[in-house]
Amino acid sequence: MAQTVAILSQKGGTGKTTSVRTLTDVFRRVGIETLAVDLDPQGNLSDYFDLEPDVSPTVGDVLTGRAGIEDALHDGIVPANLGLAETELVLGGKMGRELALRRALAGLSERYELILIDCPPSLGLLTVNALVAADHALISAEAQYFAMQGVEQAKEVIDLARDGLNSELNWLGVVFNIADMRTVHSREAYASLREHYGERLFDTTIRASIAYAESAERGVSILDYRPDLGADYLALAEELLRRLGLDGARARVAELAAV
Ligand SMILES: Nc1ncnc2c1ncn2[C@@H]1O[C@H](COP(=O)(O)OP(=O)(O)O)[C@@H](O)[C@H]1O
Ligand SMILES: [Mg+2]
Repeated sequence: MAQTVAILSQKGGTGKTTSVRTLTDVFRRVGIETLAVDLDPQGNLSDYFDLEPDVSPTVGDVLTGRAGIEDALHDGIVPANLGLAETELVLGGKMGRELALRRALAGLSERYELILIDCPPSLGLLTVNALVAADHALISAEAQYFAMQGVEQAKEVIDLARDGLNSELNWLGVVFNIADMRTVHSREAYASLREHYGERLFDTTIRASIAYAESAERGVSILDYRPDLGADYLALAEELLRRLGLDGARARVAELAAV
């Protein structure tokens, strides 16, 4: 049975898409069958995986019932495009609108071990669909003073989803992303997240580097483009797998990191 993780934040530019892309890469490299779902109309994740811009059908077609999930699998990715913005509007008027993704993914639960969902840069209906479809929610926070506020808002939506539609939803925690820990600013922001969220804050922080934008432009994983930076994501993957109780896979990531 797949474990599904939704990666969300209250706004764009916090490193969600980069996290989904790179964690998917790490997991696949250690033999975990991993599905990545793009749930952002901007389709950044689909681009980053170097899928054709006109790839079809997409997650939007699945959510509106125009296509089955099987047909929307492209190299282990369910892509998105701008049509998803319209899908969100159409979905908004329907019964069970929050359940569409959960229903769609149910059929894949046997085939994958992990399903990662890349949420859009807002906490609207699409993100709620992700949280209803997920077993776990992971918040990505940009390393800034105002990170706390964004995390609180994302947490409120997680709580709403748990109270109303998905009582099993587990909050995995917060990743401090795009961080420059050499600055006092970043270290203080991290410390205040630690104070508020304790163990829920991941020990691993993802360092800021322009190399991420370059790797995205080229559609290449940071693990290959800059393995020295990719080490952060190996560490994050290890922490995540520990929290998911996948210790065998965690040991394989540790071996990969030691190479
Ligand atoms: N660790 C990082 N350091 C610097 N830039 C990053 C890092 N991670 C992602 N980026 C860049 O920041 C921008 C936003 O990242 P992205 O993963 O798309 O965030 P989101 O999906 O939350 O909007 C992109 O241009 C991306 O290449
Ligand atoms: Mg994104």
